Amino acid sequence: MNASTAYATLNNGVEMPWLGLGVYKAEDGAEVEQAVIKAIEAGYRSIDTASFYFNEEGVGSAIKKSGVAREELFITTKVWNDDQGYESTLRAFDQSMDKLGLDVLDLYLVHWPVEGKFKDTWKALETLYKAGKVRAIGVSNFNVTHLEELLKTAEIKPMVNQIEFHPYLLQEDLRKYCKEQGIQVEAWRPLTKGDIFSNPTVQEIANAHNKTPAQVLLRWNIEHEVVTIPKSVTESRIIENSEIFDFELTQEDIRKLDELNEDKRYGPDPETFDF
Ligand SMILES: NC(=O)c1ccc[n+]([C@@H]2O[C@H](COP(=O)([O-])OP(=O)(O)OC[C@H]3O[C@@H](n4cnc5c(N)ncnc54)[C@H](OP(=O)(O)O)[C@@H]3O)[C@@H](O)[C@H]2O)c1
Repeated sequence: MNASTAYATLNNGVEMPWLGLGVYKAEDGAEVEQAVIKAIEAGYRSIDTASFYFNEEGVGSAIKKSGVAREELFITTKVWNDDQGYESTLRAFDQSMDKLGLDVLDLYLVHWPVEGKFKDTWKALETLYKAGKVRAIGVSNFNVTHLEELLKTAEIKPMVNQIEFHPYLLQEDLRKYCKEQGIQVEAWRPLTKGDIFSNPTVQEIANAHNKTPAQVLLRWNIEHEVVTIPKSVTESRIIENSEIFDFELTQEDIRKLDELNEDKRYGPDPETFDF
């Protein structure tokens, strides 16, 4: 198995690669284009962008230049908070699709659970899904309470919840709830932007497997059945991050990494964010 053959199956039967390239903070134009092209060359088939990353055009142009058939790729984008609500989400979707240069999207996510709006936003995603404009719909940064609220009125269950996840933030209750509901969990900030690389436990496990800390962290996501989308614009790191399908962590490794949990967030808390 490798990056281009390892797929999770979503609750509607759509297959989503376990590994994707994140492009938050990759600059539109040459930087993001190069990163996406190098990733596709390295076997990545999934790209995670958002209107808020302001690089959908670069992602779209890289997809065209990559030479890989559109149906082999899995493209995710997200509706930003300012665009939430029914009509405005439909408009935001069209804008994202124009920038990406796509007819059909693979996954559209509600970026954050904006209070008083996310249920109308979800209705718009359901409309897009029913119209065949997007193959899967999901949410991001939704806690159990947000999901419970959404499911009271949702006609279609989210297929994915993209959340901050790494050994310092285990999110056990949320992952358990998602599993029970058939919602695939996807990790953002899986590498903690490198902050956790120097942790002795991570280093010890990396040495034991002759792998790098980044590879251990990403493999730990896979062992937890969490889709992962590390970001890099550096070719050697893009390749390094894809080489996670040729080894396995032991139960002991996984336990040790799980025990690093401190409920520590690098990003905003979905309960208190104010943007
Ligand atoms: N839904 C949300 O609210 C949300 C929030 C944040 C992120 N995300 C998504 O999740 C993706 C990943 O999260 P993230 O970008 O915040 O953080 P991350 O993937 O944990 O870390 C990315 C950083 O680590 C560096 N890096 C990557 N691979 C490395 C390696 N093998 N060795 C050393 N350093 C390495 C990158 O540097 P270089 O690029 O310079 O190589 C970059 O600075 C984002 O790009 C985005 O797509 C979603």
